[in-house]
Amino acid sequence: SAQTTLDIAVIPGDGIGPEVITEARRVLEAVLDSAGVGLRCTEYPLGAAHWLETGETLEDDTLEKLRGHDAILFGAVGADPQDDRVPSGLIERELLLKLRFSLDHAINLRPSRSYPGVTSPLRGVGEESGPQIDFVVVREGTEGPYVGNGGTIRRGTAQEIATEVSLNTAHGVRRVVADAFARAASRRRKLTLVHKHNVLTRAGDLWRRAVEEAAVEHPDVSWEYMHVDAATIHMVQDPARFDVIVTDNLFGDILTDLAGAISGGIGLAASGSINAEGTAPSMFEPVHGSAPDIAGEQIADPTATVLSAALMLQHLGHAGPAARIQAAVDAQIADWARDPQASAALSTAARGEALLRRVLAG
Ligand code: NAI
Ligand code: MG
Repeated sequence: SAQTTLDIAVIPGDGIGPEVITEARRVLEAVLDSAGVGLRCTEYPLGAAHWLETGETLEDDTLEKLRGHDAILFGAVGADPQDDRVPSGLIERELLLKLRFSLDHAINLRPSRSYPGVTSPLRGVGEESGPQIDFVVVREGTEGPYVGNGGTIRRGTAQEIATEVSLNTAHGVRRVVADAFARAASRRRKLTLVHKHNVLTRAGDLWRRAVEEAAVEHPDVSWEYMHVDAATIHMVQDPARFDVIVTDNLFGDILTDLAGAISGGIGLAASGSINAEGTAPSMFEPVHGSAPDIAGEQIADPTATVLSAALMLQHLGHAGPAARIQAAVDAQIADWARDPQASAALSTAARGEALLRRVLAG
């Protein structure tokens, strides 16, 4: 149920992270203020720059403090790959993965939408008469082949053996599938299970049965099965057919990048890392990274972060303000599309300001 004051942890991070977070916070404050909902933000300085300064990636007491908030709004972290003072993979493992596993972010949520005037590599997408993309990928976030269940022996020899075992638990699969059905029920009531159960028979069997069982509880939602290789074809040839896609960690990682590429691009892609049982805060962030190539130039697009804030509000039960942000983004993008040259030159702050004004007008 919706609370009257939201208690949000904000992790601006590195590079363009703080730039885009500033704009998202302004929009968030405005939309909540006009809905009579309070907002308390606590900033946590984490990321590559913070590690260089303090040696902290994510201390246990910081993690405990984060646990106390309703949700986490996250910018982006990560050093410039040219900066050899930061060991490769350190921030990913000790901050991002630690957050995901400690806070049990079982579900990675990535909505994909086409916007009028936003061109896509797919013909017709972004045109009024073209296909309208509007689907969400519900990707399992804590299992599959990403759990580190494997080993190497005889490394560097011709007899080297490397294993990477995909872990799938009934609990883990069921909670993701339940979430996906609930989302489908509140959308266009269509669910697609993506797997490769002809070859990955054991995991595929578990996923298929989980979907069949959940389908009984949701007779209003129709579902189909699709092999992951076929899904890449359909996503390119007929993306409008999808509503909710549910899939495992690895397939979801790949499909969501494809989904991002065919829809609005990196400046528009939002995501949520959801704790399915509500035992720890969920985290919302743009899909993009810290973009060291443009950091500090005030040219990053804050829209993906603003949309991530809307996902956060939706998750926290504030569907009205979330819808207002989405509507403001829709209207503003359409406006920008009318004069692409002028809008391409807008600063991060000018984009944030335009979105803010739309929200207040809406
Ligand atoms: P990136 O997403 O930061 O940048 C890729 C390209 O997209 C760059 O040319 C960048 O300028 C552009 N771009 C990204 N966001 C944009 C925005 N909002 N507006 C306009 N242009 C934008 O990916 P990259 O360069 O591979 O990684 C840079 C750093 O970010 C690395 O340290 C990486 O580890 C980290 N990273 C962090 C993530 C996170 O915090 N969740 C996710 C992805 C990467
Ligand atoms: Mg990825």
